[in-house]
Amino acid sequence: MNIDNQIFLGDCEKVLKSFPDNCVDLIFTSPPYADQRKATYGGIKPDQYVNWFMPKANEFLRILKPQGTFILNIKERVVNGERHTYVIELILKMREIGWLWTEEFIWHKKNSYPGKWPNRFRDNWERLLQFNKNKKFRMYQEAVMVPVGDWAKDRLSNLSNKDKIRDESKVGSGFGKNISNWVGRDKVYPTNVVHLATECSNQNHSAAFPTELPTWFIKLFTQPNDLVLDPFLGSGTTAVAAIQLGRKYVGIDTEQNYIEISKARLLDTQIQLPMIAENSENYQVEDKRDS
Ligand SMILES: C[S@@+](CC[C@H](N)C(=O)[O-])C[C@H]1O[C@@H](n2cnc3c(N)ncnc32)[C@H](O)[C@@H]1O
Repeated sequence: MNIDNQIFLGDCEKVLKSFPDNCVDLIFTSPPYADQRKATYGGIKPDQYVNWFMPKANEFLRILKPQGTFILNIKERVVNGERHTYVIELILKMREIGWLWTEEFIWHKKNSYPGKWPNRFRDNWERLLQFNKNKKFRMYQEAVMVPVGDWAKDRLSNLSNKDKIRDESKVGSGFGKNISNWVGRDKVYPTNVVHLATECSNQNHSAAFPTELPTWFIKLFTQPNDLVLDPFLGSGTTAVAAIQLGRKYVGIDTEQNYIEISKARLLDTQIQLPMIAENSENYQVEDKRDS
C-alpha cells in the first residue's frame, strides 16, 4: 500500500494496522484533548484517556522507524479544581510498552490575551512530549539555530578565566558549558521552549495549531523526502508544514469535513510551493544522513 502523501479517513488505530512496520520518520500530532471539544469532534473522559490512547501508542511504536521521533502535543485540563494526571499517567504507561520519554518541549503561546480566574492564571503554554524507540535518534540541530542575540555583545566581550574552560553542571545533569565557544558566532542552538503565537486564522478547525509548530519539529527531526505522520490530522497543518519543507506526509482523521479542509489546504500549498521554495533557505536542505 502506498502511504506517501496520502490522507486517510478513519480511526487512526484501525487505519495504522495496514501500515508496514518501521515506515515513518516522524510522528507529530495533537490528539483530541480530554473531554474539551465534545461539541466539535467528540471528547474522551479524562479518566478514560490513557486507555483510549494506549492502543494507538502501540501502533505508533510499531510503525515508527527505529531512529525516528514521536512528538505529542498535549496538556492536562483542570478537573474539579485540580490539574488532572492523565498526561503523567500516559507517559508512565508509554514507558511500560517500550517508549523512551526523551524530552519535553514547551510551546509558549506568545499572543494570549489577558484573563482573570479566582485560583489560577491564564494558561499560556502547552507540552510537546518527545518519545523515541532508541536512545540514538536522528536530530538535525543546525536546522533550528537562532540568531545569537544581544546578550552576546556584553557577555562575550568580557570573558573571565572561568568562562574559558568548560563549567560542568553543579547538579550533575551533564549540561556543562564553555561560554568562550560562542565568541564570533552568529547563531546558537535554541532552548527547549518554542515561542510561537497561537493559530489566529483558525483554518475552520477549533483546535488548529500554527504551521510554525510542526515546521520547527520537522526541521529538527527529519531530512527532505522523509515521511511525517499526523494520525490526528485535523485541518492538515502538519501535512502543510511537511510539503513546504520538501518532506512527504501521511495523515488520518475520523471527520470527512476535516479531510476536505486538509486536501484544499494542501492543494493551495502545492500551488504556492515554487514561491515558498524561492523565499526559503530551508526548503533545499542538504541531505547529510548516512545511507
Ligand atoms: C486537536 S485536533 C487536531 C488539529 C490539528 N493539529 C490542526 O492543526 O488542525 C484532533 C483531531 O483528531 C481527530 N480525531 C479524533 N479521534 C480520532 C481518531 N481516533 N483517529 C483519527 N483522528 C481522530 C479529530 O477529528 C480532530 O480533527
